[in-house]
Amino acid sequence: MQKKKIRLKKPAIVLLIIMGSVLALSLGVILFYCYQIHSLTSLGYSRKASHRILVEFKKDYIVSVGKNKTLNAAFESKDYNEKNLDRYQKIKYQEHEHLISNINELIKKGYSDYEISMIVTHGNDKAVGDFAKREKVRYLEEFYSISYARVENYDRYLKYMDEEREDEETTVLHVNLNLDIPDYEQAVEVVKFSTDMFVNKHHYLDKDFKVDDLVTVDSKYTVGNEKIQANREAYNAFVSMLKDGEKEDMHFLINSCYRSYEDQEETWNTYKGLYGDNYVLKYVAKPGFSEHQTGLGFDIASTTSNVFVDSKESKWLFDNAYKYGFIYRYPKGLESITGYNYESWHYRYVGKKIAKYIEDHNITFDEYYVRFLDKD
Ligand code: DAL
Ligand code: ZN
Repeated sequence: MQKKKIRLKKPAIVLLIIMGSVLALSLGVILFYCYQIHSLTSLGYSRKASHRILVEFKKDYIVSVGKNKTLNAAFESKDYNEKNLDRYQKIKYQEHEHLISNINELIKKGYSDYEISMIVTHGNDKAVGDFAKREKVRYLEEFYSISYARVENYDRYLKYMDEEREDEETTVLHVNLNLDIPDYEQAVEVVKFSTDMFVNKHHYLDKDFKVDDLVTVDSKYTVGNEKIQANREAYNAFVSMLKDGEKEDMHFLINSCYRSYEDQEETWNTYKGLYGDNYVLKYVAKPGFSEHQTGLGFDIASTTSNVFVDSKESKWLFDNAYKYGFIYRYPKGLESITGYNYESWHYRYVGKKIAKYIEDHNITFDEYYVRFLDKD
């Protein structure tokens, strides 16, 4: 039998060739695209941003700039505006959801790149967004060259400076501490225990605030027979301070440490009854506003002198407490910041690192809080 040969007709051959070419071309385009994306991602751009960069024909521009987080955010954003391309790359990146739309708005308001960088680094996304909506402000560098100034406080800074005639730095410190608001009003609740927690006349604790790891102090370290409690870490630090002090002939004890809301209420009422309103406001915290409710504030007594401030122990603690993680919380002359008359006997445990910083820089815990701990 004779075999039949399959013979393709001419149009079919042409079709096959066309299909093959289209396939090869598509493959080429895909490979080229992948190569381009790869060269952008290896520069530090996300896939999403890289795709947009290619679509906008900006690859050469990006390659000439190199890695830039603000540009990456711009190409990822629906608010990308080609007109602002050169500006984006000069503005400091912040991890803000609306960074690019806020930058666009600030550019419209007439701010320079340097000023916009200053604005976006001094507030969260919402605060920067609100700031971008207002007319261009006059005193930007005056306040925002201070690292901890906040854009949302701009009007309060102006008002405080005008009324109190303070310099910019003092103004920013005081306003950030809410010292322009009457004591105990609009106070912020502190909910989480930590050894660096900040409690004052503007930061309060709930009635039922729970101190971590509250332990009962050994009665040999206390004045009188009352049961005293303290946070364990702070207590251990206190005991090692006390033992080292004894080696240098220093003798001191704990007069008071943890006070519940109710204990503080009692203290407040007792002193108010004895000495009146003026005294308590200067020396005793209102219930809910006392560091004693954290188990980290220690009132110390000397066993060698009834007047603590005159004792050698007072001097020794003033010089040495920081080595054990304690700070002298209410210093003389700084009543306007701490809110209390100076208290030679009140030490606060904050841990060694913070205590050393405060000692080395001769600042209050309030200032330390504003600079490093106040993060919304
Ligand atoms: N004496 C301090 C301020 C307090 O009552 O917490
Ligand atoms: Zn105290």
